Amino acid sequence: MPTAETKSLRAGMVGLGMIFDETYRPFFEWAHGNGLWSRETGPLEAPLAAVATRTGKRAEAYKKSSQGKIADFQNFRGDHAIDELLKSGVDFVCIATPDDRHFDAAKKALDAGKHVLIEKPSVLRLQELDELIALAARHNVLAKVVYHKLLDPDHKKLRTLVADGVLKHVNNGYCSLLEPKSVSGSQFAEWIHGRNPGTYVAVHYVKLIDFMFGGRLKTVTATGQRGLVGPQDGPTWDSVQMRLIYEYDDGREAAFDIHTSWVAPDNFPGYVEQEVQFRFDNGVWNGHSRKRGVELTVEGRTPHEFKTTINTHYNGQFLEPWGERSQRGYGIEVIERFVREVAFVEHGGPKSEQETRLRKMRSLNYNDLAADRQTVAAVQALEAILAEAAAGRPDAVVRVDLAKNVLTLSHTGTASPQRLV
Ligand SMILES: NC(=O)c1ccc[n+]([C@@H]2O[C@H](COP(=O)([O-])OP(=O)(O)OC[C@H]3O[C@@H](n4cnc5c(N)ncnc54)[C@H](O)[C@@H]3O)[C@@H](O)[C@H]2O)c1
Repeated sequence: MPTAETKSLRAGMVGLGMIFDETYRPFFEWAHGNGLWSRETGPLEAPLAAVATRTGKRAEAYKKSSQGKIADFQNFRGDHAIDELLKSGVDFVCIATPDDRHFDAAKKALDAGKHVLIEKPSVLRLQELDELIALAARHNVLAKVVYHKLLDPDHKKLRTLVADGVLKHVNNGYCSLLEPKSVSGSQFAEWIHGRNPGTYVAVHYVKLIDFMFGGRLKTVTATGQRGLVGPQDGPTWDSVQMRLIYEYDDGREAAFDIHTSWVAPDNFPGYVEQEVQFRFDNGVWNGHSRKRGVELTVEGRTPHEFKTTINTHYNGQFLEPWGERSQRGYGIEVIERFVREVAFVEHGGPKSEQETRLRKMRSLNYNDLAADRQTVAAVQALEAILAEAAAGRPDAVVRVDLAKNVLTLSHTGTASPQRLV
């Protein structure tokens, strides 16, 4: 039961799609049942207070199915849903709309003085990112992005080996993330026109590489295939391959290839195929997110209803040894961590020291928008290269110089590069 000293942070949720169901929903339900506590804040509640979506239908269905699991929440729908949510008295806002709709929602929420958490990729252009960073600074709030792969225990181990100098200087690597056809065919049908799987999922690995190895992003190239999700000469992509070149302080370089798709077969043994390999001066790291040792067969039920190789680390539903049903994993942990960061800023000590607490939470570069510039530059480059290809001008290269805040796109043999930033 909440006590007189229990602090509260009211959450607003914009977008109630697949990712809400996988990560935010279990977090809010768990927080409702258990509450949150830390030494600095004492007991804390983080109720889902309001939801804004286009039609309100999923929110209505969730209202019914969640009775007893969370407190009641307000359901705003339509063109002014976000404005109404912002006026309803929420303390922080989570934005889980399709990625080309993050910016407007985040801008409104920051402008209203709310702490903000945005799903990956944060935004699609550096100009937008810089505007959000400036707004967060002006309103003394946190503006953060969700990259849950940084919390995957395997990636944490890899980062520890790199940080401790056990693995020395990365030279090159590859990452692949393949989603099933059901994702492009039905799940995302409403917004998939003109979109590509690279922006949507390669960004997980762009961030992983950027955060893990540091360095300076220099060059982005990309290719892709069309013809399944949309016409072969249209702007909607089935698969995308991108390459990033980084330079490190000692002048040496590394190259990373990231392959993505949302047209893998639906009867794939795992829901999402995810693999990485990084080669260092003195070692190799090979990782596979679903082949971590489990192989399940249930007659008539795998691989569709249940997956053959399951990633229980990201997000699994469990019967705990003590009898409780739970849903947990690093996909949910990352949301909880953000709420704890907001709680630390708002309730972690005297008001007079809030500025210091805010600075401390902003310095966490795994999720702060200010540390997302190279990742957004890579996304912006990818989007521009694919737009050029869709317009009949394939094989563009983007050179990145963020020290000078310049992104230029060029084609071999063309004299004048085009400035993206
Ligand atoms: N971290 C991950 O692994 C992961 C996985 C999936 C999706 N995501 C991210 O989450 C975001 C949403 O993806 P999803 O899979 O939940 O998509 P989805 O299509 O399942 O759901 C989108 C939701 O946004 C709502 N919406 C759309 N436009 C809106 C608007 N203008 N205002 C308010 N609500 C709006 C829709 O009503 C729907 O509820 C994307 O940015 C995606 O990249 C992250």
